[in-house]
Amino acid sequence: MKISASFLESNNIIEDIYKLDKTDVDYLHVDIMDGNWVKRKTFKYKEIKHYTSNISKRLDIHLMVKKPLKYVKKYIDLNVAFITIHLEDTIDLNKTINYIKAHNIKVGLSIKPETNFESLYPYLEKIDLVLLMGVNPGYGGQKIVDNINERLTKLKNYLNTKKLNTLISVDGGINNDNKHLVSKADILVIGSYILNSNNYQEQINKMRGN
Ligand code: DX5
Ligand code: ZN
Repeated sequence: MKISASFLESNNIIEDIYKLDKTDVDYLHVDIMDGNWVKRKTFKYKEIKHYTSNISKRLDIHLMVKKPLKYVKKYIDLNVAFITIHLEDTIDLNKTINYIKAHNIKVGLSIKPETNFESLYPYLEKIDLVLLMGVNPGYGGQKIVDNINERLTKLKNYLNTKKLNTLISVDGGINNDNKHLVSKADILVIGSYILNSNNYQEQINKMRGN
């Protein structure tokens, strides 16, 4: 299982990114919100470029935006492993998926806790990753939804029956006490559980079960 660290609620972004880069975390998760798809507005492309220009971790970009294509066109220039867009309420969904794939970047599709994951089925053969939200998009530090294990299990079973090796990532509310609920995921996105501590590597080790 891989870990993608989210710095969304960091009060000291440059320092925290530098500290996370020194750990063995697998990816740096970048939460981009446009103030439209979701009320909050987060980082600008130039800021992310600046924050990440000297680090070695690859980026796991999570776009919570209405028009992802214009964002994707910029973010493909960074050291990106995944770009994930949302299934709900997104303009040019297919075009954006194709654009990401055409640039040899792995493409993810995310759904909010209330969204029926059957709506993902038509896309599963085209995408590399499903990002299941464990909380409603907007903020770090929220509590994970109760049915996350059920959703994850159903999706995993469906992928198995279809013989698809699409990755599953879970994002939001994950900590050491509830990690057993998401142990079937390939990637865990973790923010506050790592950042609200003095020793990031120790928290990451706990999540890996070390
Ligand atoms: C929520 C974001 C998450 C969040 C994760 O909209 O997509 O990535 O920052 O942070 P925690 O682990 O604190 O829920
Ligand atoms: Zn996220």
